[in-house]
Amino acid sequence: MTRPIALVTGASSGIGEACARLLAERGHDLVLVARDEGRLEAVAKELADTHGAAAHVLRADLTVPAQLGMVEDRCRATEAPVEVLVNNAGFGSFGAFHTLDLDGEIREIQLNVVALVRLTHAAASQMVPRGRGAILNVSSLAGHQPGPMNATYGATKAFVTSFSEAVHEELRGTGVAISVLVPGFTRTGFQETASVPASAVPGFMWQEADDVARAGLDGLAKNRAMVTPGNVNKVLGTFSSITPHAITRRLGGEIIKRST
Ligand SMILES: NC(=O)c1ccc[n+]([C@@H]2O[C@H](COP(=O)([O-])OP(=O)(O)OC[C@H]3O[C@@H](n4cnc5c(N)ncnc54)[C@H](OP(=O)(O)O)[C@@H]3O)[C@@H](O)[C@H]2O)c1
Repeated sequence: MTRPIALVTGASSGIGEACARLLAERGHDLVLVARDEGRLEAVAKELADTHGAAAHVLRADLTVPAQLGMVEDRCRATEAPVEVLVNNAGFGSFGAFHTLDLDGEIREIQLNVVALVRLTHAAASQMVPRGRGAILNVSSLAGHQPGPMNATYGATKAFVTSFSEAVHEELRGTGVAISVLVPGFTRTGFQETASVPASAVPGFMWQEADDVARAGLDGLAKNRAMVTPGNVNKVLGTFSSITPHAITRRLGGEIIKRST
């Protein structure tokens, strides 16, 4: 019996690594994508040793068009097709927009938005004719409202949520599932990379990467349009979705001023 293949971006740490581990446990072989090849090799070895999964390492910086193109080709391939795509790689930046390095902000858009769109297109184009496949796009609660000091990141995640929900409706009835995962604070390397002052965030607001990944993949298996992991995030997500932006952006701005 051949095992179905899942491709996970950002599989070298955090939520992506947790998704890769769960997919291996659930019977998939893996294609692991990120920049840190050593870390990906270590994850691949663990998945082979623990779950008997064949895990192929595809080192790529998804902000570099030629390297992104290589991953797109793998997603589009009809031989040994990718059955599950997890578009998880992403990063954030923190600070007043005009003070941030502009090239870094553009790279953030290239990774969080452009790479995700290109890989969704490549995978869907081989999945729809086969009448099967599944795509999980990782967004954030930060995408539910404008985020002062987090302007670019919040906007990229607003895009990811809106885009994924729309494509979900387009693919209804095709046999291809697409869900958007909307995590809140999750214990990974994310906050350190983004230089987010997260030490003041109370413990009850945090989730573990394994729990977030499990909720995302379970929701994808049921083809839920949107998956918000954890009760606290569900309440926050509902509040920011139904509250006018004029209120949430002011509130967000005040909270961030007081905590920095
Ligand atoms: N942690 C949170 O609180 C939180 C909350 C909401 C949403 N999210 C979202 O969850 C997703 C995963 O983040 P995480 O929390 O697991 O953070 P993380 O531990 O920092 O993982 C980010 C992953 O993205 C990869 N990556 C970064 N830049 C890349 C690039 N240019 N090309 C290819 N891969 C790249 C990293 O691998 P390399 O460094 O090896 O390339 C790493 O595997 C992101 O989309 C993030 O926006 C996180």
